[in-house]
Amino acid sequence: MEQSPRDIVVGTVGDLAPGTTRKFLLPTAGEPTEAFLVNVAGEVHAWVNRCRHVPLTMDWVEGRFLDETGCYVMCATHGALYKPDTGECVSGPPFGRFLIRVPLRIEGDRLIATVPAEL
Ligand code: FES
Repeated sequence: MEQSPRDIVVGTVGDLAPGTTRKFLLPTAGEPTEAFLVNVAGEVHAWVNRCRHVPLTMDWVEGRFLDETGCYVMCATHGALYKPDTGECVSGPPFGRFLIRVPLRIEGDRLIATVPAEL
């Protein structure tokens, strides 16, 4: 499939270990937008790095998003917890809201992200 200017290669299949995260930049107009990959039990998801409480980046150590249990994405500012597979906030000020999902697809062995429509 042809790649659009809203697509970016973010890795190869299997290059992100389960329980780990990795940041990348989305090619948005003006400044690029930070996003991140998270491998949840072998399934990779991608989210915009923007809390739904205050629109701040969430990593508490550069590039690290999961809390100490490894079960939730935790916002560094006020500790909101999000489910890493659905993006739903289950604790904290933005309770019930969802992170912005970055669509992913696989082409060959490449993992490709697309800028979400909301951006
Ligand atoms: S900015 Fe993320 S919980 Fe407040």
